Amino acid sequence: MAVSLPLIVDEMRTGDIAAVHGIERLSFSAPWPAYAFEQELASNRLARYRVARAGGQVVAFAGLWLMADEAHITTFAVHPSWRRQGVAHRLMVSLLELSRQIGAQRMTLEVRVSNQPAQALYRRFGFVTVGRRPRYYTDDGEDALIMTTPELAGPSMQALLLAEHGPNDVADTGGGAA
Ligand SMILES: CC(C)(COP(=O)(O)OP(=O)(O)OC[C@H]1O[C@@H](n2cnc3c(N)ncnc32)[C@H](O)[C@@H]1OP(=O)(O)O)[C@@H](O)C(=O)NCCC(=O)NCCS
Repeated sequence: MAVSLPLIVDEMRTGDIAAVHGIERLSFSAPWPAYAFEQELASNRLARYRVARAGGQVVAFAGLWLMADEAHITTFAVHPSWRRQGVAHRLMVSLLELSRQIGAQRMTLEVRVSNQPAQALYRRFGFVTVGRRPRYYTDDGEDALIMTTPELAGPSMQALLLAEHGPNDVADTGGGAA
């Protein structure tokens, strides 16, 4: 089921952090503290953060770091009440476009081995598992899978973006300022 309200993907601002942190705490067993988001927005020049807003309310967020030629997804979460409605899908289209705009050759991330919903989302966007980091998560010692896309400029990712970015898809106001 798709979100019925218009969904806008936008740059994360300092004023969004309280809402973002609320979603973070509902989504992760070891949430980032709110000041981590403040520091990221204020002083990490390699970081880009996006939020999805529905009716003005922040319902999801995601971030990435541009590391050499890779866009590394650092965080990604949708408010539990807004899941399974295509919100992550829209945010991921936006992150892929952003990654191309800032010159990344590919995208990469770590995900818990038990996190099947997130792995399914990432597979849908071309990510494949390329490795495993044993005991990566310090709160419970769970392993991480390393997932990465093919070349963003290559034919498979271009075809995927075209197919996923439907004509009535997301309004994205944040892309140009990357
Ligand atoms: C993973 C997460 C971001 C998905 O958000 P969402 O808005 O519910 O996802 P969407 O509705 O846009 O679904 C897009 C695709 O993701 C996959 N997916 C999402 N949720 C899924 C689930 N519960 N089970 C299986 N596949 C799932 C499907 O491929 C889906 O496509 P489909 O609906 O056509 O089957 C969300 O569950 C979440 O915030 N989880 C907690 C935080 C987290 O794990 N973040 C990732 C850290 S690496």
